[in-house]
Amino acid sequence: MKRILVLHGPNLNLLGGREPEVYGKTTLYEINRLLEREAKKLGVEVVTFQSNSEDELVEAVHRAKGNFDAAIVNAGAFTHYSYALRDALTGVALPFVEVHISNVFAREGFRKGSVLSDVAIGVVSGFGAYSYVMALRFLVEAFDGTH
Ligand code: DQA
Repeated sequence: MKRILVLHGPNLNLLGGREPEVYGKTTLYEINRLLEREAKKLGVEVVTFQSNSEDELVEAVHRAKGNFDAAIVNAGAFTHYSYALRDALTGVALPFVEVHISNVFAREGFRKGSVLSDVAIGVVSGFGAYSYVMALRFLVEAFDGTH
């Protein structure tokens, strides 16, 4: 595991000020720096990308083919309905961990459903910014290429 793409979906650029009681006070900038520091310790490279638009996220997944070994994906609300993002991830066969800052299972009913989970390696949800760190550690320390 050498290069890991971190994708942040819609509204995650608002982190820090957005519903802090749900998402905490950590900004997206801080999450990305945290991941870069962790990646350095682990001896891997992370590239982070945020977009509010589905097509840009799909394009980012397409560009990842051959350039990344795995991805960490917090697709935001697209998690719950974007078949296009799901198809992109399976289409380029990019292994990925689905990540959520909040515990989606403890929230509104529509958040309990994910169109990504069954094609993800696994799901980390509810650990705040640390959800991403857990996913990164797993990919580097324990993922053997199968899922
Ligand atoms: C989220 C959970 C989603 O339901 C929501 O739409 C988000 C953020 C999370 O990280 O907890 O935008 O993915």
